[in-house]
Amino acid sequence: MTKKAHDLSFKKIKHDLKEIDFNLTKNLLKGEKLFASPGGKIEPAPVIPASFEESKEAQDIKSHGEMLLSQGKVAALVVAGGQGSRLGISGPKGALPISPVRHKSLFCLHAQKISALEKRYSTRIPFFIMTSRVNDGATRKFFKENNWFGLKSNQVHFFVQGMLPSVSKKGKFILSRDGGLFMNPDGHGGVISALKKSGGLDIMSAQGIEEVFYFQVDNPLVRICDPLFLGLHNMQGAQMSSKVIRKRDFEEKVGVVVLVDGKTTIVEYSDMKDEDRYATDDKGKILYWAGSIAIHILKRDFIETLTNDVTALPYHKAIKKIPTVDNDGKPIEVDGIKFETFIFDALPMTRSSVTLEVKREEEFAPVKNKAGQDSVQSAIDMQVNLYRSWLKKAGKYISPGVKIEISPIFALDEADIMKLSPEIPDRIETDLYLE
Ligand code: UD1
Repeated sequence: MTKKAHDLSFKKIKHDLKEIDFNLTKNLLKGEKLFASPGGKIEPAPVIPASFEESKEAQDIKSHGEMLLSQGKVAALVVAGGQGSRLGISGPKGALPISPVRHKSLFCLHAQKISALEKRYSTRIPFFIMTSRVNDGATRKFFKENNWFGLKSNQVHFFVQGMLPSVSKKGKFILSRDGGLFMNPDGHGGVISALKKSGGLDIMSAQGIEEVFYFQVDNPLVRICDPLFLGLHNMQGAQMSSKVIRKRDFEEKVGVVVLVDGKTTIVEYSDMKDEDRYATDDKGKILYWAGSIAIHILKRDFIETLTNDVTALPYHKAIKKIPTVDNDGKPIEVDGIKFETFIFDALPMTRSSVTLEVKREEEFAPVKNKAGQDSVQSAIDMQVNLYRSWLKKAGKYISPGVKIEISPIFALDEADIMKLSPEIPDRIETDLYLE
């Protein structure tokens, strides 16, 4: 290593050391504050079925959610600190082009849905975006270059999640290839302390926000601030609520909402015991079917209570291959330990929680893999299928194979399309984008 490189590395290490919470790291290495698989009695959680949406009762509950939106009591929050490493992309995952005809990015779709909701309910919805050290600058730049996708720049609040050092199996820090220490983002549970530290919670409180609609960046079908979900959660006085879909098979990699000793809990797919994963009901169907789509509503004051104890959420430990260098500065990979927290570990701490089933084809098209299930292609196909189904309901003829994209600015749902039907051609024979 040259002297210059050595000095630079020393500076980076000094900077990283300043960020490290040594007490916490020591405790984690001693095995304290670590997540332990829930050992209690597990049973299926009560879930409001997707068909509830059609009921008369649902209309009043939806109106309540709409009232919260009109009164400006709801914020949207996306966690976008992770890297698209499984997709093999560099840069923020939210910048990934995903819409079928115009190739809009995930961030663009989310922002346009918020704009459309603001117009529909004559309201303001602040948009909080959690980034991490690795993608914060690029995320801000992406929004700026795209004029905040039609939102006001001062309603978009970026905040950076914390980092934790990864350690070797012997508990030593690991050098990163850029000369500093190898650190990893602290998981999406880091949203709690990052909201507090960045002043995000104060902004919410000053703006009269009571409910926070939380979602992951990778799902182009997310129904942001769904009024029915908001109404159900708020009317029940729930502190944190979740949306679920029916798992497509026993192996689907989604967390599952269950009751553990009577408490609503999400058991992550990797923590589910085989006897539970493959359990069936008396009809031979998946017993623990309620797959989490990582969409929640959290009461702002519940988030505040979680911030009172920075270690309220337990730390999950994962063994990962970590890129580093050997004594001669040659790139190598070593087995290391990464710690992170998960937001859904807050669920068992709630006094009350609602779980709502939704239809996969309408609300969940996650982009996780390069190809096959849950990939860019499957997410595009699901968007096209959904938009085709809306237009078919409105009596339109669409030639087979034709791609449809409906901008959130044009219509947010099937009901909007029904109203706008006269503006849409009756026969659609080539790819169509509606804005
Ligand atoms: C996640 C959930 C799983 C759920 C599924 C639904 C976890 C551990 N599991 O699985 O229960 O059924 O989504 O799609 O979350 N993120 C951050 N900072 C981090 C880590 C992640 O912001 O430090 C964000 C990512 O940008 C992404 C989201 O959290 O938006 C999910 O992370 P990911 O690693 O993709 O989780 P999955 O394994 O897909």
